[in-house]
Amino acid sequence: MYLLIPAAGSGRRMGSDRNKLLLPLLEKPLLAWTLSAAKAARSLRWIGLIGQPEDFQDFKEIVVSLSMTKMVHFIQGGATRQESVFRGLQALPAVAQRVLIHDGARCLVTPELFDRCAGELLHCPGLVAAIPVKDTIKMVEPSSYQVRGTPDRRQLWAAQTPQGFEVERLTRCHQEGLRQGWEVTDDATLFEQCGLPVKIVEGEETNLKVTTPVDLAIAEFILRQRGEGG
Ligand code: CTP
Ligand code: MG
Repeated sequence: MYLLIPAAGSGRRMGSDRNKLLLPLLEKPLLAWTLSAAKAARSLRWIGLIGQPEDFQDFKEIVVSLSMTKMVHFIQGGATRQESVFRGLQALPAVAQRVLIHDGARCLVTPELFDRCAGELLHCPGLVAAIPVKDTIKMVEPSSYQVRGTPDRRQLWAAQTPQGFEVERLTRCHQEGLRQGWEVTDDATLFEQCGLPVKIVEGEETNLKVTTPVDLAIAEFILRQRGEGG
């Protein structure tokens, strides 16, 4: 299975002066945790790491420090996640039929989740790891802060990555998104907007996306619980 890792963001909400994926988490850069999980996942053969050129030197040092046993290719990212993934798709070898996409910022992902998604992807055109929502969610009118409704929580799932797709179809969905000017925060949304089916694969509660400083603290706590960091 092929894996693309979008890692070309800036981490604005983290409030740091560089890509949050280079911030230390228990003495290792955040991205190193994501890559070690990918390294340990048996189903993955090829990894495309999507980054900004100014980060490539640091990324290379991480890859070397992990003695990665599978091929890691460096792909130049774009201005948005959507653009970065589109570039990643174009950099896949022509023989790639299916691809998993996993955000570099979800550094607590387990090899088992990668392998489970890779297995499921052999039986469906599109999938997304997700977990049932724990909170009650309100739909809110942005200008007045008036609550417009409360969707039934039993139908709500919080989307994570990995997400997986047939390469040819996802590429066409990205092209359609470009034509239509859709701006989305994950790839499943493009698939859905094109009327293609997306299946849920049970994700992991600990598979959080490190977005703000509090997420970094929670990630450290979870890793220590797993016995990492001495
Ligand atoms: N990403 C990317 N290319 C971009 C923007 C984001 O590859 N132009 C990646 C990030 O590196 C991250 C993932 O997409 O692994 C999810 O994005 P997010 O958590 O929003 O990270 P940032 O965009 O870096 O953070 P922020 O939105 O706070 O600036
Ligand atoms: Mg972002």
